[in-house]
Amino acid sequence: MLIALSHIQRLYRSDEVETTALLDIELGIEAGEFVAIMGPSGCGKSTLLNILGTIDRPTSGSYSFGGQELTELGEAALAAFRRENLGYVFQSFNLIDELTIEENIELALIYRRMPKAERRRRVAHAMDHVGIAHRARHYPSQLSGGQQQRAAIARAIVGEPRLILADEPTGNLDTENGAQVMDILQRLNDEGATIVMVTHSPSHADLAKRRVDMLDGQVVISVRNAI
Ligand SMILES: Nc1ncnc2c1ncn2[C@@H]1O[C@H](COP(=O)(O)OP(=O)(O)O)[C@@H](O)[C@H]1O
Ligand SMILES: [Mg+2]
Repeated sequence: MLIALSHIQRLYRSDEVETTALLDIELGIEAGEFVAIMGPSGCGKSTLLNILGTIDRPTSGSYSFGGQELTELGEAALAAFRRENLGYVFQSFNLIDELTIEENIELALIYRRMPKAERRRRVAHAMDHVGIAHRARHYPSQLSGGQQQRAAIARAIVGEPRLILADEPTGNLDTENGAQVMDILQRLNDEGATIVMVTHSPSHADLAKRRVDMLDGQVVISVRNAI
């Protein structure tokens, strides 16, 4: 098992109200899986993804990744863990406007000790992989949404992460560009990447290997897709 979440709870407290974003999550994910998470708005999908991504911490419960208990790590160790193991894709791409596409992708490697030639080689490879190499010197605003998302996927994979987390990666794209992004995610999964993707699209969820339905901060159904 690559990932084991056990009794994960996430509460948000303010003076007046307490919101239970995640009630009691039990979820195991094997290396090589492609999991689609679905559920109504507010059911806790992004909170779950943020906890998997160690951007957020659970209020209680255990998160084990490759046998290591992550809830015990401090901030510096978690930052190192993220750099080594995780790639993120967001609905709104989150590229830096002032940097070119290749600079955006290279930024994901800059905090690793890696010779510049090796960085360049990896960035070129990642751009080729998603069909964006011809836009290397362009800025994000000069690209279509589909191209920006493909560049964001290149940024996510350039460090060769063990886990790719995608929060509604096709949510801002038209049908054709959404299909292209799904093609790329499926190909990365075929090549061995483990992927967890939040989506509102049933047809995109069907392209994953497993579908997990959430409701009110809980996993209610987990089914393997027949593909
Ligand atoms: N920073 C926050 N402070 C307070 N409540 C939050 C915060 N983030 C999320 N929530 C609440 O947690 C619940 C789950 O939110 P979220 O994980 O974003 O749902 P989803 O992604 O499924 O739409 C919602 O009720 C939301 O209002
Ligand atoms: Mg969300």
